[in-house]
Amino acid sequence: MFFKLFFFILSQSFYYSSSQIINFTYNGFGPPLTDISVQGIASVTRNGLLKLTNTTMRETGHAFYNKPIRFKDSPNGTVSSFSTTFVFAIHSQIPTLSSHGIAFAVVPNASLPFGDPSQYMGLFNITNNGNDTNHVFAVELDTVLNPEFNDKNDNHVGININSLISVNSSPAGYWKETGLGFKNMTLISGKRMQVWVDYDGRTNRIDVTMAPFKKSKPIKPLVSVVRDLSSVLLQDMFVGFSSATGHCCLPEHFVLGWSFGVNEKAPPLDLSKLPKLPRWKPRRIYVFYKNWMLSISIFCIPLVFIPSLIFLVRCILMRRRKFAEELEDWETYLGKNHRLKFKDLYYATQGFKDLLGSGGFGSVYKGVMPKTQHEIAVKRVSNESQQGLKEFVSEIVSIGRMSHRNIVPLLGYCRRKNELLLVYDYMPNGSLDKYLYNSPELTLGWKQRINVLKGVASALFYLHVEWEQVVIHRDVKASNVLLDAAYNGRLGDFGLARLCGHGSDPQTTRVVGTWGYLAPDHVTTGRVTTATDVFAFGVLLLEVACGRRPIEIDKVSGERVFLVDWVFGFWIEGNILDAKDPNLGTMYDQSEVEMVLKLGLLCSNSDPHARPSMGQVLHYLSGDEMLLDLSPLDLCRRGMMLGIHHGVRELGMFTGGSSIADSILSGGR
Ligand SMILES: Nc1ncnc2c1ncn2[C@@H]1O[C@H](COP(=O)(O)OP(=O)(O)O)[C@@H](O)[C@H]1O
Ligand SMILES: *[C@@H]1O[C@H](CO)[C@@H](O)[C@H](O)[C@H]1NC(C)=O
Ligand SMILES: *[C@@H]1O[C@H](CO)[C@@H](O)[C@H](O)[C@H]1NC(C)=O
Ligand SMILES: *[C@@H]1O[C@H](CO)[C@@H](O)[C@H](O)[C@H]1NC(C)=O
Ligand SMILES: *[C@@H]1O[C@H](CO)[C@@H](O)[C@H](O)[C@H]1NC(C)=O
Ligand SMILES: *[C@@H]1O[C@H](CO)[C@@H](O)[C@H](O)[C@H]1NC(C)=O
Ligand SMILES: *[C@@H]1O[C@H](CO)[C@@H](O)[C@H](O)[C@H]1NC(C)=O
Ligand SMILES: *[C@@H]1O[C@H](CO)[C@@H](O)[C@H](O)[C@H]1NC(C)=O
Repeated sequence: MFFKLFFFILSQSFYYSSSQIINFTYNGFGPPLTDISVQGIASVTRNGLLKLTNTTMRETGHAFYNKPIRFKDSPNGTVSSFSTTFVFAIHSQIPTLSSHGIAFAVVPNASLPFGDPSQYMGLFNITNNGNDTNHVFAVELDTVLNPEFNDKNDNHVGININSLISVNSSPAGYWKETGLGFKNMTLISGKRMQVWVDYDGRTNRIDVTMAPFKKSKPIKPLVSVVRDLSSVLLQDMFVGFSSATGHCCLPEHFVLGWSFGVNEKAPPLDLSKLPKLPRWKPRRIYVFYKNWMLSISIFCIPLVFIPSLIFLVRCILMRRRKFAEELEDWETYLGKNHRLKFKDLYYATQGFKDLLGSGGFGSVYKGVMPKTQHEIAVKRVSNESQQGLKEFVSEIVSIGRMSHRNIVPLLGYCRRKNELLLVYDYMPNGSLDKYLYNSPELTLGWKQRINVLKGVASALFYLHVEWEQVVIHRDVKASNVLLDAAYNGRLGDFGLARLCGHGSDPQTTRVVGTWGYLAPDHVTTGRVTTATDVFAFGVLLLEVACGRRPIEIDKVSGERVFLVDWVFGFWIEGNILDAKDPNLGTMYDQSEVEMVLKLGLLCSNSDPHARPSMGQVLHYLSGDEMLLDLSPLDLCRRGMMLGIHHGVRELGMFTGGSSIADSILSGGR
């Protein structure tokens, strides 16, 4: 034990005492760069990186410590122990390829002018490669597989003496702690790596070890060889690095830090002080050369992306346009509460899918309000002209405020370009007309009919008298009478109604309404009064009682037969009840049917002044006032004219009361 210790101390003292001690350390290479000479394309960057090569092709880069280092005490002596460590990085623009590599070299001359910028790594050339007179010891970090040098692969570390053919080599990597195996490293990865080279002058053992940056030195070296370097190295040598670029791949070789010691361990590097490597951006050339998929996708992505962006924008615009609405100043104070969103209506009607029916002014769709589950009927009216729209909307709004049990409730409206949407309560039993004309499949009993008529009459009375303004419906007809769940008649479709103040004379020139329900005075003068509504209501009364349309084509003569004339004909013949609807069966009150027929005729009197008011009509309908004693002649005296509907042209002939009797006799049926 004592002996062992003694020999250890002896050997240690021998190890150090043999000659001068020299060491140097570079944690980065300046600036200023001291004691190092760079040659070829080698340079030192501003932040202190020793850059052996740049991307210039076929060039060498050398960097040597410019003071000779004494490796031997005497020219014929043995080589002292020496040790070096350095941190390097090799970056290649093409990630999988690089040209040549870096060699740590101990050379007799600080300049290597004949070193070939190729696989000879700037150390040798084709003539002197392998010649013992070179006196070169090197450790190669070789990134090219050169079969002529017996290279194992394109990523190896080798020990070289006077030749590029390695004495020993190994794939780049390191042995992990005992038993954990070997870990490969890629020299050209651009990552920082540390290398240790140790020569033991006594055992002549050369160890080369490498590890990733900031990993401690592995215990087991990567490459080892036992070789006495005494014949290889001269007494004074230069140490440094050599590198060469080839024909391709644009590599860059960097040394970040370096320390060296003769007769002692190389001083450790302060890794935190080492300069930073540049940031490498992927170069275009790489993208095209290696990753054509990526380059294609770089071209394709805009090709796909831009149209899809355009498509998206178009979708948004289309959606905007689809749900676009119009709103004007006056609407904000008039109709704010009744204004509905088109989008909501669109969804409520499931895109206007369920068509209830089409009238003269538009189509009606069924819908359900999503929140309340309230059933609605949406009427789409196209209004090309913006004229009178304000009046129209204000009218709608006023109707929205009306509440009468015989008026179809208006829930709101929506206005779009060229379109107006009116939202009503849904009337589950549809319109009255289909019960009258589709008999006997679909029919109403007399009780229901008289109830509907009373309902409509009270609605009209409400419009004419009870409401704050005089509202003339203008389009009273069977298809505008809707039946609610309890078969109550409800007046709907105020599409043509106009508001006018009480007492003021409503002036219009346009003839509106439905043919067959039009009062002759309205046709001739274009004037609209409450009496025009009464006329139409009279036609409705006859319709309900007779189950006939206001105008029917006679099957035999092909002539148009007006309901008013037709019923009047029966009356003159004294059997007015024969005009009643045959589908009524027997369950009816004869006197009531007779009353309705006569009242119908009275209301559809061609003389507006002879028509009763809606108030009177209500009285008659409820039986407060009797009509039964009214005779056809009474009616004539009241100005009844027949054949009035045959044409406006004929109207002139029927202005005087004197000709009425004639007309009764000649034209009456
Ligand atoms: N509120 C409603 N509830 C149920 N059905 C309705 C409603 N409003 C209208 N309809 C149906 O839509 C059809 C067309 O209505 P409309 O356009 O008012 O007809 P017109 O113009 O001939 O009076 C009606 O015949 C009726 O069957
Ligand atoms: C490489 O370095 C040499 C010498 O410093 C210089 O002349 C050459 O322009 C450099 N090439 C590139 C590509 O930077
Ligand atoms: C060194 O060796 C050479 C031959 O190998 C010899 O000629 C020379 O004398 C030797 N010098 C010394 C100092 O031993
Ligand atoms: C190094 O080489 C140069 C010329 O190539 C020569 O002048 C010089 O003497 C050499 N130095 C040594 C130490 O061999
Ligand atoms: C190789 O290098 C030697 C010097 O070491 C030189 O004399 C010779 O001319 C070089 N050959 C070529 C081909 O460059
Ligand atoms: C080695 O080089 C020397 C001088 O450079 C030359 O005389 C000798 O022939 C070379 N030997 C071989 C084997 O090429
Ligand atoms: C390491 O590299 C060698 C040679 O390239 C290969 O044979 C081996 O499979 C690699 N090992 C791992 C773990 O990648
Ligand atoms: C380096 O050498 C100097 C003398 O030149 C010595 O003082 C110092 O301790 C040495 N450093 C190391 C780390 O061996």
